[in-house]
Amino acid sequence: MALSELPPPIDESGDAGAELPLLRTPPPGAMSKAWIARLQTVDAPWTTARRERRAAFTGLDESPIVLTSAKGCNVADLDGNRYVDFVACFGAALLGHGSTRVARSLEMQSERLVFGLGDVFPSDSKIALTERLARLFPEPGARVMLGLSGADAIDAAMKTALLATGRPGIVAFEGGYHGLATGPLAMNGLRPEYRLPFGAHLSSHVRFVPYPKAADTLEQTLTIVDDLAQKGEIGAIVVEPILGRGGVYVPPAGFLAGLREIATRTGALLVADEIWTGLGRSGAILRSVEDGVVPDVVCLGKGLGGGLPMSACIGKGAVMEAWRSPKGVAPELAEAGLHGEAIHTATHFGNPLACATSIAVLDTIFGQKLHLRAREEGEAFVAMLREACGPETKVREIRGQGLMVGIEVEGGAQRGLGLARDLLMTGWLVLTGGRGDVLTLTPPLTIPRALLTAFTERFAQLAAMRAL
Ligand SMILES: Cc1ncc(COP(=O)(O)O)c(C=O)c1O
Repeated sequence: MALSELPPPIDESGDAGAELPLLRTPPPGAMSKAWIARLQTVDAPWTTARRERRAAFTGLDESPIVLTSAKGCNVADLDGNRYVDFVACFGAALLGHGSTRVARSLEMQSERLVFGLGDVFPSDSKIALTERLARLFPEPGARVMLGLSGADAIDAAMKTALLATGRPGIVAFEGGYHGLATGPLAMNGLRPEYRLPFGAHLSSHVRFVPYPKAADTLEQTLTIVDDLAQKGEIGAIVVEPILGRGGVYVPPAGFLAGLREIATRTGALLVADEIWTGLGRSGAILRSVEDGVVPDVVCLGKGLGGGLPMSACIGKGAVMEAWRSPKGVAPELAEAGLHGEAIHTATHFGNPLACATSIAVLDTIFGQKLHLRAREEGEAFVAMLREACGPETKVREIRGQGLMVGIEVEGGAQRGLGLARDLLMTGWLVLTGGRGDVLTLTPPLTIPRALLTAFTERFAQLAAMRAL
């Protein structure tokens, strides 16, 4: 089938993007199945292999749907089914799908300048975005490095820490996720399967510490971090202010402040990975700053580009000076590397299109105060879910901040994955996190209350019905 034969885009009439699910055929329908069969013949086999393993584990048909259009909180598949999107591109679709403002800025920029020349001849849009991002940092004088993915931003932060401290050691957290490029992969605490096949290429300087999931584990965590940092080899403590993929754990009060104190005292950098929590998702522009802590480096990504690839590593001015005068690098190497070659760049870093859409995203978030909306709606959503999910639903805990909500269920991954599938089959898109036992809900920050209510009702019904 050719692209021209695809179904028309999702209906934009009526209550565009805020409608309840509408299933014309049980998902995945025949069209989705046919297109997935085509993909399987050309895609690297890891997606298929993962699906097969998952199906063997859950005993369910794990075939995916194929997305073809979207508007607001609604997504449509090739079979004409309409879903409500509680995944929102892994939390990235902050403004929802098809933001007119983002589309306009993309159109205008594409008429002016599409290709940049990154570090050689920057575009005006790159300069404008970099200024905006520097101003997000809570102290004046911050400096910015742009990237394409979250992993790029983390990579830049890891390099910054090495240049600024001369120390290769990194404290990372169990359950943590920072992207899968070779640098950040070394800090993947989510599951050993991510790291093991590539172990030979990964930094051996990462030390994992338990993420404090409850108040009574905070002291223990801080003591371990302190012991490691006091040995003087730790250059960076890299932390998610809320553990995202690890299962949406909000740490106890004092966690980030404790890490800040240790980092300051031992000369390590505190790197806040706000790729998921930032830009309003967790109810704040920067969760760490909202919690009263100024990190040395902040990483942003996901929703920043409004669907175009864009990420940023933003650091204190004094810390980022290391890119001019690094510590622990022999002067002749520093001279060759830092004054001769662009030692941290890529063809599309600072791409003008993504810079323009990023500015539109920032304008929209601030203009519509979406971070505050996410905070209020998130609180209401969590309260509704807690109220609706009685013991019959086998829900263990509902937690989160802003529109970053986790529902932990009893029965492990069997039940979690089963519920995610039940929801798909009734028109609601969700993913699981943690060990498969946490439904992770990250809808657009614009989601209407009526859809949060409808989801709550549907989820409570399904959860009460599911045996395992
Ligand atoms: C906290 C966090 N950091 C980094 C990343 C990696 O971002 P990307 O997938 O864009 O490389 C993710 C992705 O989910 C994330 O959740």
